[in-house]
Order: sequence, then structure tokens, then C-alpha cells
Amino acid sequence: MPETIDICPLSELPPGATRIVAWEDLEIGVINCNGELFAIEDRCSHDDGPLAEGEVDQDACTVECPRHGSLFDLRTGAPKTLPAYVPVETFAVSVVDDVIKLEVD
Ligand code: FES
Repeated sequence: MPETIDICPLSELPPGATRIVAWEDLEIGVINCNGELFAIEDRCSHDDGPLAEGEVDQDACTVECPRHGSLFDLRTGAPKTLPAYVPVETFAVSVVDDVIKLEVD
């Protein structure tokens, strides 16, 4: 069953900001990209780098793995550049009554 967890008020995650949340044995980065919210597993598929801590390009909607530089599409979790070639998991994000909610399963 999917589970919905409250992250924070929308005002606490402005465009360009990232918040890392822990859920079970996963860490998930919730990222505001030009006002659109995305959530991506905070573990690079190449070598387990801390993906969501990387630099976000809000125009391209990508995050750059800080370890070896692969760019990942925040919408799909797919890598756009090597060395990573396997997508990372993405999660649904919504806003209800100005609170950011993350759907996990
Ligand atoms: S750990 Fe992310 S590109 Fe290598």
C-alpha cells in the first residue's frame, strides 16, 4: 500500500532548494525545480553517491551526481550522461493545504 508522508510547508522549500528525508532504509531528495516538485532516490545508481545533494539545474530539470558527475533527469530518474546508465527511483509529490507530501510504497 502506498504511504503518504508530510515533508514540510511549501514555503520552506523554495525553487532551487532540496530537502532530504529518510523513509525506511531509503533516503529521498525532494527538490523544488522552478516551482515544480520532484522526489528522487538519494543514491546514485552508478556507485551509491549522495545524488540529491548534487547541483540542481532548474532549467534543464536535472541533478548532477557530486561523485562522478552523471546528470539525472528529475522527472524520470533516468541518467542523461555517463558513467551512470541505470535510472534511479522517483516518487510522487503533491501539495495539500500548502504542505508537501511524498508518496512512497
Ligand atoms: S556515484 Fe554517481 S556518477 Fe558515480
